[in-house]
Amino acid sequence: MTAIAPGIATYGVLHGVGVGPGAPDLVTLRAQAILRRAPVLALPRSCDWGGSKAWEIVAPSLGDVAGQERIFLTFPMSKDPARLRPAWDRALDAIGARLARGQDVAFVTEGDPSLFSTFIYLQREAPRRWPGVRVEVTPGVSSVMAVPAVTGIPLADGQERIAILPGTCGLDDLDDVLARFDTVVLMKIGPEMPRVVAALERAGLLDRAVYVSRATMAEQRIARDLREVGAERGDCFAMVVVAKKERSGVLAGDVPPRSRGGVP
Ligand SMILES: C[S@@+](CC[C@H](N)C(=O)[O-])C[C@H]1O[C@@H](n2cnc3c(N)ncnc32)[C@H](O)[C@@H]1O
Repeated sequence: MTAIAPGIATYGVLHGVGVGPGAPDLVTLRAQAILRRAPVLALPRSCDWGGSKAWEIVAPSLGDVAGQERIFLTFPMSKDPARLRPAWDRALDAIGARLARGQDVAFVTEGDPSLFSTFIYLQREAPRRWPGVRVEVTPGVSSVMAVPAVTGIPLADGQERIAILPGTCGLDDLDDVLARFDTVVLMKIGPEMPRVVAALERAGLLDRAVYVSRATMAEQRIARDLREVGAERGDCFAMVVVAKKERSGVLAGDVPPRSRGGVP
């Protein structure tokens, strides 16, 4: 709870809590402690009838906490402000009502809250809506770090440079980025896989790329031939990593069989 000034509203603390890429045992101890203590969990999902990936990740370790409220907030996967605005208004109203009652709210995000996360907007909006509110970020294991772990392909060493690109907007300079960086991470690919494959073919880098969907989750999938994946509609938890440098021979053959980050 935040004491702002005598006689002025006292808000609860707004937490952005990263819970990792999917495996329940990649939720950090700090995240677990905050989630256990928080009177309110705010759990994002992409449609009213669907589940929340964030909740799916924490449910096994957290379970039902006595007296804890869970609010599921729908953020449609859309760039259309007419669809997004009302969803955001509802979410902000729901969170604001709890903060104004002095309750701490833990907004749970998949991966890390500071990378392509809904929480980033909330973090920006919070001081405007709730002046003096304290916002705390608890980092999580990002999918960017989970993917190298499950493929055995490191991201960078020594002087190497990495680029992280969102596929949903801004693949226009992909040829240039592929030429200039040692490792390129493509997130949020959605329906753009054919464009990614075409750019990799032009650059002669198709055999240096790996596609990973749902890293560390039970449904994890790793594909070395991106053309196979090209025909499929992109998975919303998938990324492509292009690592130019061959370090261990991994890229020359199959991705080694690896554990799924602790998923039994
Ligand atoms: C909205 S962003 C969220 C990123 C998240 N905050 C993080 O730190 O990993 C969603 C994108 O992250 C990537 N992603 C998230 N989880 C993933 C996973 N388990 N395996 C592969 N990619 C994943 C995908 O590129 C997906 O489109």
